[in-house]
Amino acid sequence: MTTGSTAWTALRLRESLLPNRVWLSPMCQYSADGSGAPTDWHLAHYGARAAGGVGMVMVECTGVSPDMRTTKRDLGLWSEHQVRGHRRLAAAIRAIGSVPAVQLGAAGRKSSHGVPWDNAGTRRPIGPEDGGWRPLAPSPIPFAGLGVPAEMTTKDGTRVLEDIERAARNAHRAGYEVVELHGANGYLLHEFLSPLANHRVDEWGGDLERRMRFPLEMVRAIRAGWPADKPVIVRLPAADLHEGGLTADEAASVASRMARAGVDMIDISSGALTPGALRIEKPLHNAEYGPRFRAAGVLTAASGLVSEARHLDEAIPDLVDAVLVGRAMLRDPYWALRALDAEPHRSWPRQYHRAF
Ligand SMILES: Cc1cc2nc3c(=O)[nH]c(=O)nc-3n(C[C@H](O)[C@H](O)[C@H](O)COP(=O)(O)O)c2cc1C
Repeated sequence: MTTGSTAWTALRLRESLLPNRVWLSPMCQYSADGSGAPTDWHLAHYGARAAGGVGMVMVECTGVSPDMRTTKRDLGLWSEHQVRGHRRLAAAIRAIGSVPAVQLGAAGRKSSHGVPWDNAGTRRPIGPEDGGWRPLAPSPIPFAGLGVPAEMTTKDGTRVLEDIERAARNAHRAGYEVVELHGANGYLLHEFLSPLANHRVDEWGGDLERRMRFPLEMVRAIRAGWPADKPVIVRLPAADLHEGGLTADEAASVASRMARAGVDMIDISSGALTPGALRIEKPLHNAEYGPRFRAAGVLTAASGLVSEARHLDEAIPDLVDAVLVGRAMLRDPYWALRALDAEPHRSWPRQYHRAF
């Protein structure tokens, strides 16, 4: 693999200079300690990928509160113990040579289930009687076999917004340079946007204008807890890919409103709101929505089946401004260095030069 393209040029987001545009996509490790703090696993896992040449390491979805995690093994950022763990992790990522970022998540109805490797890889709901909790969502409509969520009240909404603001403040205190709000893959923000999951008749439901009210409040909460000179990314669905769901045009208009509320970049995802959503098996599927979002006035990034260096060149700069690589970097922490390849003596860590 080799490429010499725009993918390896720097990108500025507010005061942050990302040394290149090939980033680690956020991927839950389900390996937090008993109180939601990073462990040695996280240090080794993210450290290896920081050494692997990505311009930004996005730490996995980190819950803003205990009940907004997907599982009890998710990371969190609501306590001082967690802040201390994240501080060590962010410092390691920076010292090893990448920019530390964290994804903040509010799982909504896709919450309180087992880790993927239990129960033969199927998500098993864990109810309050087994140490889980009742998920909160815009409407009491469950996702597949998961628990029936409670409909969020105004008071719940206020609490979630406070939790988001606190998590953003804690992410800053921990030393992260970029924050991403997880607004896709069928989690709380996405649930509010989609008519398939949001059947509310109050000010948070109805037409798109009303369905995006709470999501915009979530963005404002992040901005309230996060310094003005640091960038905010939102992972948004390009579309629900399901009849009657959020359309691509609607998603682009949400993005433009988010840009006005202080979002610098949209990280494009798709589907996953319903088990019946179309499964994408084509590289760059999400990136192909990039131009629509650009037209809405934001920088763009996307993930999705990027596994060869040529995919980077096909995506950047024509479709998106940056690419997030997920599973290819689980298989090989040095995927980006191999994609860059051209001059190993310049790109690989000095400690490894004698390998070439
Ligand atoms: C093990 C695993 C965990 C994931 N966890 C997250 C997560 O925490 N947050 C998120 O937004 N996406 C998550 N994803 C989705 C990835 O970030 C990525 O968008 C997706 O896998 C598509 O990119 P890829 O084909 O390069 O893997 C996860 C994916 C995998 C395989």
